[in-house]
Amino acid sequence: MNCLISAGPTREWIDPVRFLSNPSSGKMGYALARAAVDRGMQVTLVSGPTALKAPAGAEVLYVETAREMQEAMSQRFAKADLIIMAAAVSDHRPETRSKQKQKKEQMRMTLDLVANPDILMELGKQKKNGQTLVGFAAETENLLPNARRKLREKNLDWIVANDVSEKDRGFQSDFNKISLLSKEQNEMDFEYQEKNSLARKYTSMLLLAT
Ligand code: C5P
Repeated sequence: MNCLISAGPTREWIDPVRFLSNPSSGKMGYALARAAVDRGMQVTLVSGPTALKAPAGAEVLYVETAREMQEAMSQRFAKADLIIMAAAVSDHRPETRSKQKQKKEQMRMTLDLVANPDILMELGKQKKNGQTLVGFAAETENLLPNARRKLREKNLDWIVANDVSEKDRGFQSDFNKISLLSKEQNEMDFEYQEKNSLARKYTSMLLLAT
């Protein structure tokens, strides 16, 4: 069985020394990749910039921008049985990327942004029978209603609902507390625990359902 996982943040460059990004560490996606390898899956990990070691036994494709991530994901998508989009993709990028470092005295004080592609939404449109597509919803309020809306709008089979309003979990932490929601309205709540142990538990769940 082939498993395709994205992890980490994207970087959207303003010029060669400045970018827009977010605090994603990649820990959840890397833990998922390790768990999937341990379950005997053929794993491809598409990773934004992180400080983490490549998971043994997985093929890793390193990318920086959302558009690079989209290209890598769509190249591998058709062959994948289970696709988990754990990356924190930047929703916007600067409209222009300057080739030279901008001098601070000459920089405009406003940044023009354009929308990045919603990678998961595009994959949801291409999904075929037999493919299981899983997304993440990192929210600071109305966690479950927002997660259910994303599950529906992006044509997902599962979504991992993840409260990122607390310091002891989510972004950068080794710990997390999540609920797994399915398109059939199933809901599974997992205890607060290490991302490694969470990943093992819900990878098993997803595999059973794939
Ligand atoms: O940003 P949002 O809350 O909509 O993210 C939900 C899911 O969509 C996540 O799994 C994320 O990886 C994915 N996403 C994406 N491309 C974007 C924004 C989000 O694939 N531009």
